Amino acid sequence: VKRGLSQELPEYQYASFLVQSADKLSNGEPVDLSPYVPKTVTKEMEENFFTILKERRSVREFTDQEVPDEIIDKVLEAGLWAAHGCNVQSIKYIVVREKNEPGLFKGSDVPGGPVHLVILQDMRCYKANSFTPVRNQLLDAGAAGQNIVLAAHAAGLEGVWLTFPNQEFSDRLRKKFELPDYIRMVTYVDVGYGDQTPHPPLRSSVEDAVLAKY
Ligand SMILES: Cc1cc2nc3c(=O)[nH]c(=O)nc-3n(C[C@H](O)[C@H](O)[C@H](O)COP(=O)(O)O)c2cc1C
Repeated sequence: VKRGLSQELPEYQYASFLVQSADKLSNGEPVDLSPYVPKTVTKEMEENFFTILKERRSVREFTDQEVPDEIIDKVLEAGLWAAHGCNVQSIKYIVVREKNEPGLFKGSDVPGGPVHLVILQDMRCYKANSFTPVRNQLLDAGAAGQNIVLAAHAAGLEGVWLTFPNQEFSDRLRKKFELPDYIRMVTYVDVGYGDQTPHPPLRSSVEDAVLAKY
């Protein structure tokens, strides 16, 4: 209310519902929680999810097929649906089609995809939440990146998560897009229609990965 936000906001309504429900329960009155029962995941949904999860590969070769804007938006939206510390929603993007800015991403360790998705963070979002551990900030971008590569595969694209190779590279992008200081450029993902499916690189076994189990 102090910040002038509307009480019509779904989050406000939901919080009001919770507060009212708590009051009712305290008074021994019944509360209808049926809209919030756990969502059912069918066997088919589970299998499809794990297929996408395991068959996603880092693909570094792409065809010339044009990627429709709607698919790019779908993939970017997936990044925004990632888990996010205190849900401060710091994630921002820059989308660059290689054909529109040829060479802007030169210097990458791979030839690069037809569409570059740069993951940024608006660091002002963290000012409101000074109690959030600093390391969570980078994890927020990582969570978005993982959703992005998974969603790209689920949407029929392939992609590879990439690293800014040096300062000159990231400065070039910062300058091009006139990014203010409060925008952090974290990483980028190249996507497009894949021209290969690499052999899956070896993974640790769960047994090796679990250092303790009580
Ligand atoms: C943070 C991060 C940075 C990465 N940077 C690069 C990179 O600079 N160049 C590259 O070819 N692949 C990069 N990758 C992709 C990894 O090499 C790849 O995910 C890993 O080898 C496992 O293969 P998979 O993705 O096919 O399962 C990166 C992945 C992550 C998560």
